[in-house]
Amino acid sequence: MPDALTNENIMSALSRVKDPEIGRDLVSLGMVKEIAIDGSTVDLTVELTTPACPLKAKIESEIVDELAALGAAAVRVDWASNVKRSFGGPAADLIPGVRNTIAVASGKGGVGKTTVAVNLAVSLARDGARVGLLDADITGPNVPLMMGTEGAHVTGAAGRVNPVISHGVQMMSIQYFLTGDAPVIWRGPLIHSAIQQFLRDVEWGELDYLVVDLPPGTGDAALSLSQLIPLTGAVVVTTPQEVSLTDARKAIAMFNKVNVRTLGVVENMSGFICPNCREEHDIFGSGGGEKIARELELEVLGRVPLEPGVRTGGDAGVPITSTQYPGSEDSAAATALRGLARTVAGRVSVVAAPFAGGGLAAAAS
Ligand SMILES: Nc1ncnc2c1ncn2[C@@H]1O[C@H](COP(=O)(O)OP(=O)(O)O)[C@@H](O)[C@H]1O
Ligand SMILES: [Mg+2]
Repeated sequence: MPDALTNENIMSALSRVKDPEIGRDLVSLGMVKEIAIDGSTVDLTVELTTPACPLKAKIESEIVDELAALGAAAVRVDWASNVKRSFGGPAADLIPGVRNTIAVASGKGGVGKTTVAVNLAVSLARDGARVGLLDADITGPNVPLMMGTEGAHVTGAAGRVNPVISHGVQMMSIQYFLTGDAPVIWRGPLIHSAIQQFLRDVEWGELDYLVVDLPPGTGDAALSLSQLIPLTGAVVVTTPQEVSLTDARKAIAMFNKVNVRTLGVVENMSGFICPNCREEHDIFGSGGGEKIARELELEVLGRVPLEPGVRTGGDAGVPITSTQYPGSEDSAAATALRGLARTVAGRVSVVAAPFAGGGLAAAAS
């Protein structure tokens, strides 16, 4: 066994490896959980702040480099994850088991807000997170259709309601309470109490992420829900056209007004990949998301191409990012949406980072 390969040296080497997103080292973040040295082989357990970590490969290669410098011939990293909670306060007490909430919003309808919310939830669940999806678009509840649960109805007892589960995601929607096709015409106060009930009376259990499909626009419904639901942050969906960008700016201004952090912008229907020639065409222009992101000092979290499978998957209740969608692995839109989910999970980890701790302590120096 190489002399330098001691627990203490390994810990100090790992304290030179940073979580690139949070900008602090693995040891002080409490991410190193176990070290086992056997000859020149080192086994490590590293606990990430999300199972959907976008930077696993980078962290692993830095760990291997640092330990190789100490003489390790083989390094095996076991990944664990522990998603931290990013909020507290009275509103958060309504959902005690929920660690983070991500609102998906848009300045206007039809830009792909529900599509993004659904695929974000499915992707996070596919990466191993415990995920809920709250359909807060009370007057246009599309989550049940897109998740293949249109005929589902709530069950429960003693005032508690069980979420409906599909594609690995726990869901709640006003649709699950309705029978027939009666149009939903609700006034403000009723919407309020319905949402409060969705938070308080639903058996969400332990969730790493609760994704919330907000009503479109910046009217009363969206505004009051952004105040009512404790939010880690918001993801604003836009398409590249100028009109849609103006609307997205309004949505971001609304979140600023109610002190909800905008995590970034998603540019949806950004380029069309022709199924025949496989070339990309800019139907609605391009770079619009980047333009507002620059102007408002926000990040473009992802660009999702216009792809027929996104719509057919949604209509059939099998989101394109689901393992049940045939061809998910080959879809550019699915790849973009899964990447978006990891980026969002990474940004949420940064918000929750001040709450981090635990793990093996650094060697006394
Ligand atoms: N990237 C995309 N490629 C193809 N169709 C899309 C894409 N994003 C959304 N759609 C389709 O556009 C329509 C509107 O999307 P939806 O998510 O319902 O928007 P919103 O919730 O903002 O009203 C739906 O039929 C959806 O399937
Ligand atoms: Mg919608």
